[in-house]
Amino acid sequence: MSRSWLSASNLNRSYDHGPNRVHAVRDLNLHIARGEFLSIVGASGSGKSTLLNLLAGLDTPSSGTIEVDGVMLGELEPRELARYRARLVGMVFQSFHLISHQTALQNVELALYFSDVGPTERRERALETLDRLGLSDRVDHRPAALSGGEQQRVAVARALVKEPEVLFADEPTGNLDRKNSEQIARILMESHARGLTIVLVTHDSEFAAKCSDRTVTMDYGRLVSENDSPRVRHDTA
Ligand SMILES: Nc1ncnc2c1ncn2[C@@H]1O[C@H](COP(=O)(O)OP(=O)(O)OP(=O)(O)O)[C@@H](O)[C@H]1O
Ligand SMILES: [Mg+2]
Repeated sequence: MSRSWLSASNLNRSYDHGPNRVHAVRDLNLHIARGEFLSIVGASGSGKSTLLNLLAGLDTPSSGTIEVDGVMLGELEPRELARYRARLVGMVFQSFHLISHQTALQNVELALYFSDVGPTERRERALETLDRLGLSDRVDHRPAALSGGEQQRVAVARALVKEPEVLFADEPTGNLDRKNSEQIARILMESHARGLTIVLVTHDSEFAAKCSDRTVTMDYGRLVSENDSPRVRHDTA
């Protein structure tokens, strides 16, 4: 069994909503190996996006800990946490979060802005990644002039362009037809084969089974599938 690289221990996230408290994530324990491709499935409202935001360091747990490569996220200074997000994490948001007044190309380039990459290479890499996603002829379009599926692919390009160590992808094929879903599946599997750790949230259990090493299920904030130990990673050497 491979060692855990990213782990969540006794993780809770609740929201106070008027007089009610919503327990979006409850007592969750999860261990992910470096280079693993994990899928998370579960009903709408079961806490999948909440969990992904916590693992990506975009949200803070109500209690419990997240450890990445031996470092506790909760113990990082804000600047170090920002560096974790900027350098290690690629995130595909369920609702894309593209910048509306920037073109597809500028949205993807921006992901490299906080790295050491210069402007010429930023542009080259952004164009190359958009091309991989079949968007070469849409690079000058702003999000409003892109279809939902095209925006989703720009969001995937933005997450992959900086070659992160871990990709968190929240329903990256939610708006795509079969052909484009298969293209995203292929790109994720290629990136995985090169060593990228992937945590994929999807409603599509067939997609999860096809792409990933392991699938876990969330239900009312808990992980209900008992198989929550990392599997031995694929040897890509
Ligand atoms: N800011 C918030 N305030 C109050 N409740 C929230 C907030 N964000 C999420 N929730 C609640 O937490 C629960 C989990 O939400 P989450 O978005 O993680 O679900 P999900 O599994 O991603 O669902 P979906 O498949 O529909 O995207 C839901 O019941 C939701 O209503
Ligand atoms: Mg969600």
